[in-house]
Amino acid sequence: MATLAVYPGSFDPLTNGHVDIISRGAKLFDRIVVAILVNAEKAPLFSMAERVEIAREVFKPHPKVEVDTFDGLLVDYVQRKRAQVIVRGLRAVSDFEFEFQMALMNQRLQPSIETVFMMPAEQYTYISSRLIKEVFSLGGRVHGLVPELVEQRLREKGLVKKA
Ligand code: PNS
Repeated sequence: MATLAVYPGSFDPLTNGHVDIISRGAKLFDRIVVAILVNAEKAPLFSMAERVEIAREVFKPHPKVEVDTFDGLLVDYVQRKRAQVIVRGLRAVSDFEFEFQMALMNQRLQPSIETVFMMPAEQYTYISSRLIKEVFSLGGRVHGLVPELVEQRLREKGLVKKA
């Protein structure tokens, strides 16, 4: 039986840390669905349509990667997709507590679904979408930390340092 994994998140925006985890997941599983949460934040920088478009473009050359959106409970979505695994990235010990809570809650809600944690390459362990937005908006360089398309879209948004 083919193993389908779901990699859920806000992806506002997609970072090279996410891309690294997705690429690792694509080696382990037959297919991996990048599932973007609808309404994760009240005021996301990138609209849902933009986030979907960016992820589809970045993963165009990867037939094993699908990009989709979801709302409601993650485990319900995973079941609807007939997937068996939730993939989450673990960067540092600080991620652990929240991830542990989510994994155990999801396990309680749907015991047949397993959460698999994957570590990104070392150079991505300090990257987060929140930091990317903050650094870029204050005029810092994010080159190499996000896909080039994300960098381009950040520039197009004209995010500038506030006085
Ligand atoms: O990118 P993020 O913000 O770390 O992703 C968090 C996400 C989307 C995985 C989490 O908020 C989630 O699964 N939300 C869906 C609602 C849900 O199922 N909540 C219970 C999780 S235990």
